[in-house]
Amino acid sequence: MKERVSLAPFTTFGVGGEARIFIEARTEEEIQEAITYARECNLQLYPLGAGSNLLVPDAGVDGVVLKIMLDDIAFENDGDDTLIIADAGARWEKIVDTASEHELFGIENLAGIPGTIGGASVQNIGAYGAELANTFEYADCINKTTGAHKRITRTEAAFAYRTSFFKTHREFIITRVTLRLSKHATPNITYPDLARVYEAGTPLRTPSEIIIAVRAIRAKKFPLSIEEGTAGSFFKNPVISRELADSLALRFPDLPLFPQEDGSVKISLAWLLDYALSLKGFSINKVRLYEKQPLIIVARTGATATEVSAFADEIAKRVFAATGIVIEREVETFGAK
Ligand code: EPU
Repeated sequence: MKERVSLAPFTTFGVGGEARIFIEARTEEEIQEAITYARECNLQLYPLGAGSNLLVPDAGVDGVVLKIMLDDIAFENDGDDTLIIADAGARWEKIVDTASEHELFGIENLAGIPGTIGGASVQNIGAYGAELANTFEYADCINKTTGAHKRITRTEAAFAYRTSFFKTHREFIITRVTLRLSKHATPNITYPDLARVYEAGTPLRTPSEIIIAVRAIRAKKFPLSIEEGTAGSFFKNPVISRELADSLALRFPDLPLFPQEDGSVKISLAWLLDYALSLKGFSINKVRLYEKQPLIIVARTGATATEVSAFADEIAKRVFAATGIVIEREVETFGAK
């Protein structure tokens, strides 16, 4: 346990203040000890994974930050499927590679995403036509207010676009996640970027071939230099009514629309920022919208969380002025109760 630890190095954004108390947990017992400690000191407890979707306020976190370091990965056969059982702190990329070594399908489209499997479950990570929810079986959790164990199944996890039960019920700390993967070939390569690569002649038959292709697509957008921090897409793509989508499509005929099962329409915010608002590369001081993907906010060394947040608000204001859409952040403010 340490006091007054700067959290910036524990996040990919690289900005923000200190944790009042910082504890690293390598076992479930250490998580339980941290829960007891926080309760005795009457402090809030905030679990931290790889810090890849977080904005830490400059004022820091007035509580106990618990870095989840448990990272074992195990396999279990279940009929035709294979279950992968991973500790919450296991790196998502390691899980993707391990699944691929076993020639298991299900998460190959999600290659190249930073973070841990615990964070990936909270966030229901998604990319290239897949999301974590498709393979999630259950998560084992500890309730941080009572210390009790609870298993949350896929149905209970209530996954939706970049959200889950875990996001709305912060009292549960995920300790282990089980995914159901398949040995049978089910390549999912309809997402435009992947379809294009396939049509150009790249074989996309095995998890490993798809992983290589996805990482290559992502690598064109990254890496940023070491002087720059980011948490990936800062905003969610807006999900709007059919009527609003139709009226936007009249003004912006090329705006990519993704109809949802419930009749609503997801629209590409990157496109709006790029073509409707010409904000690619737009900057205020050390914060800017990334040139290669304007949904990404980049903070140069020396930027503050306050600047990042004010910049994001300015972008949201401009999107609202141009379209009437209230955009939501995907990146979370860390330490908020
Ligand atoms: N576009 C532009 N200009 C650009 C970049 C993109 O106009 O500079 C338009 C293009 O029309 C493109 C469309 O935006 O076809 C979509 O772009 P992209 O495929 O990069 O996807 P996205 O909708 O911006 C989402 C996820 C990403 C995920 C990608 C790929 C969200 C908020 N973001 O981005 O996830 O990797 O799809 O599947 O849903 C993340 O959540 O942090 C994240 C990176």
